[in-house]
Amino acid sequence: MNFQKPPGTQDFLPGTVEKWQYVENKAREVCRRFNFREIRTPIFEATELFRRGVGETTDIVEKEMYTFQDKGDRSITLRPEGTAGVVRSFVENKLYGEPDLTKLYYMGPMFRYERQQAGRYRQFHQFGVEALGAVDPALDAEVIALGYTFYTEVGLKGVTVEINSVGTPAVRAAFRERLLQFLQPIRDKLCKDCQSRMERNPLRVLDCKVDQEHFEGAPSILDSLDEECRTHFAAVQQHLSSMNIPYSINPRLVRGLDYYTHTAFEYKAAGIGAIDTIGGGGRYNGLVADIGGPDQPSVGFGIGLERTVMLLENQQAELPDLHKLDVYVVALGEAAEREATRVLHSLRQHGWSAERDYQGRKMKAQLKSADRLNARYTAILGDDELARGEIALKEMATGEQRMVALDRLCEELAATK
Ligand code: HAM
Repeated sequence: MNFQKPPGTQDFLPGTVEKWQYVENKAREVCRRFNFREIRTPIFEATELFRRGVGETTDIVEKEMYTFQDKGDRSITLRPEGTAGVVRSFVENKLYGEPDLTKLYYMGPMFRYERQQAGRYRQFHQFGVEALGAVDPALDAEVIALGYTFYTEVGLKGVTVEINSVGTPAVRAAFRERLLQFLQPIRDKLCKDCQSRMERNPLRVLDCKVDQEHFEGAPSILDSLDEECRTHFAAVQQHLSSMNIPYSINPRLVRGLDYYTHTAFEYKAAGIGAIDTIGGGGRYNGLVADIGGPDQPSVGFGIGLERTVMLLENQQAELPDLHKLDVYVVALGEAAEREATRVLHSLRQHGWSAERDYQGRKMKAQLKSADRLNARYTAILGDDELARGEIALKEMATGEQRMVALDRLCEELAATK
């Protein structure tokens, strides 16, 4: 029987996984500077949380969730996104009681049963942040800046930021009516998806990739904003400008989740097939109350890590070599092999990464291994060297070799760092 991974999932093998570690380390490092702290929540939650949180009429809840009954007959769903779980935890643990704002980040797998395509998986990984408990537009801008800083520092080129205001629920309801008046007469010209979106979530129609030619003269949500929404949106832009974060306004940007109010934004970049959105987020002032907490306006984003790594690969970005071996220990002869065990362990205890041969191979094959492993040094120990209390240390890049006293190997290596 041949087992294969389920469709839409990936194995991250050594060689690739180092890129992921690099990207994840960068995300943590940027979060540290912005004073966001890590939160880890369960990978599955009560289904009802996502129904309420993400929204009944979203594609995610209608079509894409991995939902099952557990043995206690509870309806459980593998998280399709991170925000709902973080907000649940924020409420359950009463983090809103703290005097300071709650600024959290997370990284981990999310699950959506989606049609497979380049950059779209059924198990994918997000780096997300959520800042809970303030309406200040400076916070929206800070969150946008954090994501942009991450992309820049990880080494991605050509990332743009698009922002929009999706207003308050009241503003959206009024805009929905205006938009439907515009859409009704052209309904038959629109694609099947848009026709069904018109019923469920007309705002998403304007976001359609195939129907854009029909939308000239469509009403803009920006013209429907009330005073409070306009002031907030203008302030977000001022704060972005103060930080020199480049952005453009896209009045047709609507996100696929229902909880957004005011600011909505996306990070975009070309290079992954038909997909250009690599991350997105926005403000969600009603969500905490919607799932049973107090009134705690919040803002956050989710960044797709598959898409980040794919773009880094496409752009042939130079990533640091995270898995480099310091020393490969070659031992020839029985006594030398016993000593090699001690040398190897001592190197590792002193902080060096070190490896040896376990297959009884000849010197030449062992040296080839050292090459394949990208070792900086090879330390060669034969019975003769052992008798003299020495080991031959060869620098692989230069081929330079010298004898070093066995008990000074670690000091010698430290001196060459
Ligand atoms: P989202 O736009 O649904 O937002 O997802 C954010 C990012 O996750 C996407 O831009 C994309 O990079 C990645 N992503 C989504 N689905 C897939 C998939 N099937 N395969 C690969 N990558 C994918 C959210 O999830 C919100 N929770 C973001 C947020 C946080 N808003 C406020 N706080």
